[in-house]
Amino acid sequence: SFSPRVFSGIQPSGGLTLGNYLGAMKRFVDTQNTGVQSIYCMVDQHAITVWQDPENLRRATRELCAGYIASGLDPEKSILFNQSQVPEHAQLGWIFNCVARMGWMQRMTQWKDKAGKNSQNASLGLFAYPALMAADILIYHATHVPVGEDQKQHVELTRDIANKFNHDYKVDFFPVPEPVIEGAATRVMSLRDGSKKMSKSDPSDASRINLTDDADTIAKKIRKAKTDPEALPSEAKGLEDRPEARNLVNIYSALSEVSVDAVLADVGGKQFSEFKPMLAELAVEKLAPISGEMARLMEDTAEIDKILARGAERAREIASPILKETYKIIGM
Ligand code: ADP
Ligand code: NA
Repeated sequence: SFSPRVFSGIQPSGGLTLGNYLGAMKRFVDTQNTGVQSIYCMVDQHAITVWQDPENLRRATRELCAGYIASGLDPEKSILFNQSQVPEHAQLGWIFNCVARMGWMQRMTQWKDKAGKNSQNASLGLFAYPALMAADILIYHATHVPVGEDQKQHVELTRDIANKFNHDYKVDFFPVPEPVIEGAATRVMSLRDGSKKMSKSDPSDASRINLTDDADTIAKKIRKAKTDPEALPSEAKGLEDRPEARNLVNIYSALSEVSVDAVLADVGGKQFSEFKPMLAELAVEKLAPISGEMARLMEDTAEIDKILARGAERAREIASPILKETYKIIGM
């Protein structure tokens, strides 16, 4: 049996969104504060599965680290580091490319969505990326992976890879990790289209709230968010066929840490013209301190680089013996 250890990552592929914050970062902070050993990565090797401008990648990696810390992660308690600085990820990733089956990868809905109709022109890395993600998790023998809903299928693939490796080599070496997907904001939706998730890669900036947006921009985006003409219901089941309304209530619930039912008990019957300013005020109250702290941290990039280098050292202390043992099992 394996002692509990948490791993998760975020791609430094653009500005952070409210979706990343509520679905991932805020929950990382809650997890860290339970005292379980937690490892959080800037997954730059995943980011380059689609073209990244080098200067942007460098800045986005530091900004992500600043975002983690500004959200409440403590680099003394959690291990914060950059994936490419721990080569064991890519080394185990190659082995997992040889464990995973083509058919498993072809079933990944994110691959189908991201590669689109022009999949012959997608990078090989984009196709193989879930096997590298399995290595990210299993190189630490992590047992729990806090993610948003969109990553559930990839954590299930990680479980399949762990099971197949253990079975093929007749060992009980890799844990079979659990996805941890909980809370009201496991899938924050676009503000412009209730059927799409909020994403930093969406071409429309109005579709998302960026952690670095100022108060006026946040208020304006929420004011313009797509909704329906009905008043808010007083119970959660009244949101069932109203994805845009449900999304705004879920965001309110997650930001205020009050259940959806309790939020609706309070705001049920109100029109969106009244609810949206309440939501905007709450979002600014919660996000402004984070973006302020991110900006402050970004003034000293040398300090961020030091934190990342120290984090990579600590990460390698765990990853290196696990890779050695893996090689031994395989006959290398
Ligand atoms: P993005 O999809 O914004 O490029 P990543 O793929 O780097 O972000 O995902 C980082 C983490 O943020 C993952 O755990 C992912 O599930 C979570 N996440 C991303 N978008 C959302 C969203 N709209 N709602 C909830 N969680 C999200
Ligand atoms: Na994602």
